[in-house]
Amino acid sequence: MTLRSLKQIIPALETSDGAGVRIKRSIGQQQNIRLDPFLMLDEFGSADAADYMAGFPSHPHRGFETVTYMIEGHMLHEDHLGNRGNLRNGGVQWMTAGRGIIHSEMPQQEEGVMRGFQLWLNLPAAEKMTEAGYRDIQPEDIPEIAFEGGTLKLIAGSVTVNGQAHEGAVPDRSTQPVYADIHLAPGGTLALPVPKTHSGMLYLYEGTASLGDSELQRSAANILGDDGDKIELNAGETGARLLLIAGRPIGEPVVQYGPFVMNTREEIEQTLRDYRDGRLTA
Ligand code: FE2
Repeated sequence: MTLRSLKQIIPALETSDGAGVRIKRSIGQQQNIRLDPFLMLDEFGSADAADYMAGFPSHPHRGFETVTYMIEGHMLHEDHLGNRGNLRNGGVQWMTAGRGIIHSEMPQQEEGVMRGFQLWLNLPAAEKMTEAGYRDIQPEDIPEIAFEGGTLKLIAGSVTVNGQAHEGAVPDRSTQPVYADIHLAPGGTLALPVPKTHSGMLYLYEGTASLGDSELQRSAANILGDDGDKIELNAGETGARLLLIAGRPIGEPVVQYGPFVMNTREEIEQTLRDYRDGRLTA
């Protein structure tokens, strides 16, 4: 197996979304900054309620999936299908917008830390108009794999740690996404196969770590090179926490208009008409 190098660093930029929630956006900060099949990655994290209280009132999506991973905090998801889901410390909400969903994501706390990530995973043309769906994944249903030097929470996909294969909480997607939250102890190391078929990134959100000889940048999408089939992580002296996000590229044109992601302009125009006429979710 050969090591994958660090190809590119996309530092997250501070911005705000929803009704004024402060976030850091790496992938998706501009429309040409994506990592097929991933459209966007937002980090939110604040101990100041003013940064998150406004939340994300009712809004639509079509054509992709959103994956929200709450590290700390409490949000309530509600959608037009009647789903209600509490997203709490360590839980994940996996929402398939498909042909259309209208939902809100509102904080259920007035103080304290709110911290987590939202990832947008594109759907191939053949799946964009599927039925909308929603899955609440409880923290205890996310496999946690211990190894010498740390632990790995496997939200989605399959990984092999020390020769042993593990399946995440959400294995069944055509882009075969891998989503892992890796905690490394000070000086801890981890070697993981990441198949050549997958594009991938590392998002360091605490501590320091390197990929092979390359230092990872904090709060940035550290994009993996296409030159190998495994990664080797080494934590610095304070340890590290980072996300590994990888998936099979779809290789189709992407036309995005805000919360709608289709393949052509005509499909976006149709989506806007459907939304205007109340047929987005019909
Ligand atoms: Fe949303």
